[in-house]
Amino acid sequence: MMILVLNGPNLNMLGLREPELYGKGSYAELEEYIRAKASLAGVEVEIFQSNHEGALVDRIQDAYGKVDAIVINAAAYTHTSLAILDALKAVRIRAVEVHLTEPKEREEFRRFSYVGQVAERTFAGRGFDSYGDAIAYLVGGEEC
Ligand code: DQA
Repeated sequence: MMILVLNGPNLNMLGLREPELYGKGSYAELEEYIRAKASLAGVEVEIFQSNHEGALVDRIQDAYGKVDAIVINAAAYTHTSLAILDALKAVRIRAVEVHLTEPKEREEFRRFSYVGQVAERTFAGRGFDSYGDAIAYLVGGEEC
C-alpha cells in the first residue's frame, strides 16, 4: 500500500508556529513520526508539503494511478480551497483529512472544510497522533 501525505501552508513552520496550539515538534519531527508510523504499519509513504495551492493540486493530480490513499492536512486551504476539493474528486483516490488541532473547536471560519466534503474520515485534535490515527485507519480499513 502506498500512502501520500500532503501538508499545506505554514506546516513547515511547526515548532516555531503558535506552539501553544500546534506543539513544539518541528516539521522534520512530524515527517519522522509519519515515516515511523508507516514503517510500523508496513506501508510505503511519500510526504509532500507546500505553501502553494496549485502545487498541492499538481501533487494530487500526479498521484492518479500511483497511490492507494491520500492523508491530507490542507491547513488553511482546508477552509478555502475548492480547487483542492475538485482535484481530490477528479482523481477519486480515497482521502483522509487530518489536523493537529480540532478546527471545529476554534474560530467560526475554521468550521467548514472543503476537504471534509470528500474525505472518508477526519482525524483531528491529537497533534502528530492525528496522522498516526489516519494511517492506522487506512491500514485497518476500519474505525480505530
Ligand atoms: C490546521 C488547522 C487549520 O485551521 C489551520 O489553518 C492550519 C493547521 C491543523 O492542523 O490544526 O494551518 O490544519
